[in-house]
This record gives sequence, structure tokens and C-alpha cells, in this order.
Amino acid sequence: MSMTSTQVRDGFTSKFGVLAATLGSAVGLGNIWKFPYLTGENGGASFLLVYLIATLLVGLPVMITEMMLGRRGKADAVSTLIKLAPKGQAWWLVALMGVGAAFLIMSFYSEVAAWVFAYIFKGIGGTILSTDPAVTGAAFNALIKDPLQSLLWQWLVLALMGGILLMGVSRGIEAVTKKLMPLLFILLLVIGARSLTLPGAREGLIFLFSPDFSKLSAGVVLTAMGLAFFKLSIGMGCMMTYGSYFRDDQHIPATACRVMCADLFVSMLAGIAIFPAVFAFGFEPSAGPALLFITIPAVFASIPFGQVFMVLFFVLSAIAATGAMLSILEVPVSVLSERFGLSRPRATLINLLLLALIGSSCALSNSTLAGVTVAGKSFFDLFDFISSNVLMPLGGILLCLFVGWVWGFERMKEALTNGGTLHLRILKPLFFVVRYVSPLLILIVMLKGLGLF
Ligand code: PFF
Repeated sequence: MSMTSTQVRDGFTSKFGVLAATLGSAVGLGNIWKFPYLTGENGGASFLLVYLIATLLVGLPVMITEMMLGRRGKADAVSTLIKLAPKGQAWWLVALMGVGAAFLIMSFYSEVAAWVFAYIFKGIGGTILSTDPAVTGAAFNALIKDPLQSLLWQWLVLALMGGILLMGVSRGIEAVTKKLMPLLFILLLVIGARSLTLPGAREGLIFLFSPDFSKLSAGVVLTAMGLAFFKLSIGMGCMMTYGSYFRDDQHIPATACRVMCADLFVSMLAGIAIFPAVFAFGFEPSAGPALLFITIPAVFASIPFGQVFMVLFFVLSAIAATGAMLSILEVPVSVLSERFGLSRPRATLINLLLLALIGSSCALSNSTLAGVTVAGKSFFDLFDFISSNVLMPLGGILLCLFVGWVWGFERMKEALTNGGTLHLRILKPLFFVVRYVSPLLILIVMLKGLGLF
């Protein structure tokens, strides 16, 4: 049954709920899994600096733009762009591209989340606890090279997300993230404090905060920008969808700023929780994605009460992954239910089944499909690369162009000032950035980073 005009559209019910859900979307495995290893691999603080610039000049304006469009459209991402664009202009294709990106991201994201969930139980059982990375490495390999385990954990994670999404926006997404986000911050502070008080922690901080500019290249800059898009869940209709659930009195620029700052804070804390501990025990910092599943268990095995801290660490990661996955899935679920008039349960189920199918290509990319590559990348790496480095930046450019050149300043002013009730001094500079700076910057970084010019 589709929503009739007499029914009130589901949405977030409080300001804290908005913050919990949007922050829940931004904070995720990106902070705990991607951010530390990409920073480690690409030169520590110099990478951090580029990432910060990308977040400010591109991330924040695009996030504000998306939330604003969403709240104006008050519908799923495709319907929003159909409603807001002039007749005959197919801007809704940008939202459709976002739906595609959501599928690609969920395919590999749900697999990493699957490992995280599996590690909570393996951590409790003690089977992954060893101070020898060779042993923890073998344990990780045993998991990812087992097709059945990989698939089952992924489906379990998908089913769990489906269960929450079925309950709807306010009683599902908002209620769950409101409980989980405070817990996430407490856990992060506890683990950060433990890591910082280890002898030898200083070296990890130096690594994280001292720059190696020799590692900077066009490819690294693209990676940093891609990370900014991925981190802030922008360029693919996710923040637009969440924006459509905002109330009319929500202060959008302030919300976006808070989410951006809190997200940066979590990334820093995650870096601070991970690197000092890694260095304190003489492990290799740039161990790629395996940092989380091979090095971290070995680090925890080396400290007193390590098993407890390790289980807490993976619970924290599972919480972070949950808020993010709910928001990724909400993009196609809302399109199917609102645009195509399917009931929410049916829309959820269809998306999950599709994902179980497409996602299995990532779940099996270390086992049954090992060795199958496209352009030299496994499905897992390919989906990650295409979504972060191509689709999300491209979506970002197009949304900026839409607002900057089609929608125009007056409409943006009306939307961001909540119909004139808020006084905003940043409007003119923001519009300038959205119209010229962000799209141009994204375009140059993308083309250079992909080696196209
Ligand atoms: N921002 C999430 C993270 O950093 O883990 C990932 C993500 C969520 C990407 C939602 C895209 C999205 F729409």
C-alpha cells in the first residue's frame, strides 16, 4: 500500500533524534576501519591535512546542500529531485546513481560489518586472541576464506538491519541510533584512554600527527577526497533522504557542522585508540585493511584485560557499522516504498534479497571468487573504489551544479533560513562555494586522481 496524502509521513521526532541518526550515518566503519589504514598507508598527518581540507571545502557544503534539498522535497531522493527540478530536466538520474552507489557500498560494507560481528563472538570465545600476528592472521584468513561463514555472517547482518528498518524511521532508525550513539562515544573514550596510557604510546601519536609530504600524489588526494565523501555519507542521496525526515525548524547548517565535527572527533579518537597501541607493541602500522582484524587483536592480547577491551572494541565497531548501514539501506528502501508505492516491509525485503545476491560477490571475493578480478581489482575493492572515488564525487558535483546553477540563491536562502526565520551570515559565501569552488575542486581532483588529465 502506498502512502496516501492523509497519512502523516514518518520522520525524525526530535533534534537529538536527528543528530543521532545523521551522526549514526556518518560515523561508521569509515572511521574505525578505513580512516586509520588510509592515514597509515598515505603518509600520516599530510594525508590528514588533505582530508581536512576536502572535508571543509567539499564535504560540508555538499552535506548542507543535500540535507536542504531533502527537507524541501520531503520525499525519497528520486522523487525529491523530480519535484524540485524544472520540468523535463532529468536530475533524478543523480538520485538513481545514488541508489546504485548504495548497493555497491552495502555489498562490501556489510561484509566488513560481518567480520566485525563475527569477531565479537570469536573475541568472547577467545579464539582470536594471540600476541603473534601470524596466529591472528591465520584466524582472520580462516574466516574470510570460508565461503559459508562469510555468507552466513553477511546475511545475518543484513537480516538484523532489515528488522530495524521494518520498524520505520522514527521507531526504527531514530530509536535505535538514539540508544547506540551515546554508547559508542563512551566505549571510544574508554578504549582511547586505555591506549594512550600504554608505555610507548607517544610514537603512535607522532606517526598520526607528523606529516610525510613525499607520499602526496594526485591519487592520494583523490583517496582523501573519496574518504571525505564516504565519511560524511554524501553524494549518493543518503543525507538527502535523511534531510527529508528533518522537521521544518531544524537548523541545517548547524546540524551539518555538528555532524562533521563529531565525525572528525571520532576519527581522531579511533586513530588515537589504534596507533599508540600498535606502536607500543612494535607492530606494523600500515597493514592495510587487515589492521583491524589482524593487528588489533594481537595488540589487545598484549595488554592486561585485553580480551574485555577487544570485545568492547568490536562491539563499538558493530554499533558504528549499524548506524551507517541503516542509512545506506534507507536510500533504496525509501525509493521503492515512496516512489514505487510498495509497502515498507516489501521494499525492505526486496532490497535485502537483492543485496544478498550482489553482496555475495564481495563475501566470496576471498574464497570462491578469489582470483576473479575486474581491472585488476577484486569485486570488493572495485565496488569500494567505484563508489568512493567515482560515483559519490560525481553525485557531489551534480548536486552542487543543480543548486548553484538551476535552483539558485533565492531558493537556497529560503530553504536554509527556514523561510526567513533564521539569520544566516554564511549564505553568500556558501552559495559561492557550492556554485563554483566545490564542483570545480571535485572535478579536478577526480580527473587528476583517475589519471584522465
Ligand atoms: N559514513 C559511513 C562510514 O564512514 O562508515 C559510510 C557510509 C554511510 C557511506 C552512508 C555512504 C552512506 F550513504
